[in-house]
Amino acid sequence: EKIVLAYSGGLDTSVILKWLAETYECPVVAYSADIGQKEDWAAVERKAWETGADAVVIRDLKEEFVRDFVFPMFRANAIYEGTYLLGTSIARPIIAREQVRVARETGADAVSHGATGKGNDQVRFELGYMALAPDLKIIAPWREWDLNARERLIAYAESRGIPVPVTRARPYSMDANLLHISYEGGILEDPWAEPPDDMFTWTVNPEKAPDRPVYVEIDFERGDPVAVDGERLTPAALLGRLNDIGAAHGVGRVDIVENRFVGMKSRGVYETPGGTLLRAAHMALESITLDREVMHIREGLVPRYSELVYNGFWFSPEREMLQRLVDETQADVTGTVRLKVYKGTCTVVGRKAERSLYRPEFATFEADEVYRQADAEGFIRLQGLRLKIRSLVRGA
Ligand code: ARG
Ligand code: SIN
Repeated sequence: EKIVLAYSGGLDTSVILKWLAETYECPVVAYSADIGQKEDWAAVERKAWETGADAVVIRDLKEEFVRDFVFPMFRANAIYEGTYLLGTSIARPIIAREQVRVARETGADAVSHGATGKGNDQVRFELGYMALAPDLKIIAPWREWDLNARERLIAYAESRGIPVPVTRARPYSMDANLLHISYEGGILEDPWAEPPDDMFTWTVNPEKAPDRPVYVEIDFERGDPVAVDGERLTPAALLGRLNDIGAAHGVGRVDIVENRFVGMKSRGVYETPGGTLLRAAHMALESITLDREVMHIREGLVPRYSELVYNGFWFSPEREMLQRLVDETQADVTGTVRLKVYKGTCTVVGRKAERSLYRPEFATFEADEVYRQADAEGFIRLQGLRLKIRSLVRGA
């Protein structure tokens, strides 16, 4: 037997690494995915070895993450319950997919993760494993062991020589990648308690953001962003650039109570600076390039698509079906959007596209040739016919 563990280098997955090796008496491969969380990877690697890993594998997945997961999701304008840009949800499938590859390469027959038995992440990881490698055994230590009390976990770590951070770190469960950073737990468990300003690690407080706005132009090709202020960038570099701009101006903070897939409500605070700019810009470009009916049908699918991503069904036939439909709508979503970014807000101030369906000659209030106002009379009369009949029947 051999296990590949999704390892972060933190206390929890370090304890898991040791616990797996002891409990299953087999080699454990420590696998980490770099998806843009700022880590000292040399230190993570050293720590994995010190904790008894049989092998250590660190994969740079930043470009792949943005190109194959974040951008497809943004083509769909995904947003969960109207506010959450799915920053953690979209990271789980790529971590699981690479973990399966590592299992194949190292001849492992089991995979393990550090998500608790109460959250969404366990579902996302495990649905990924099941969809991609149904033969692999899945081990979820949080659902198996008796270390669920913090003190017991720490006692276990100390007894095995795993360093426990002395400064009772940050009292939040955090998860970061190129798209977002999340905070849950600690004082946030009181949904009435405002997060302290020193909790935020990415965006500046909008109240302290620069007093002058900044303008950003984003170019898109077939629904994907390709350049910022005229400079073509790789997907990860582009998202990084938008993150820097958004973060400097306090854009992308949300504080919500959301419905977890497993049933409870949970309070979460998120910072998604670049993603917030990107979504606004993408929708603005769609506003001039998508046909009305296509747009309205697609609009109705956004909650469905978002729920699939949130619930962990990235590798599912229904997500793939919706993705194909969404991608099809993006054929003409090529053009440029201009945003004004100022103290936590981002406002669309310009949009243009070669194949824009916005035609001034049709929309103008000036006298025109192409639109006969007299046509509107019959149009409205027939639209209103059934309303008239209903009113007559009711005896109004
Ligand atoms: N509630 C968010 C979600 O389900 C964030 C989860 C954060 N995960 C974590 N391991 N800290 O997507
Ligand atoms: C966890 O429970 O491991 C994190 C929170 C979540 O998955 O929703």
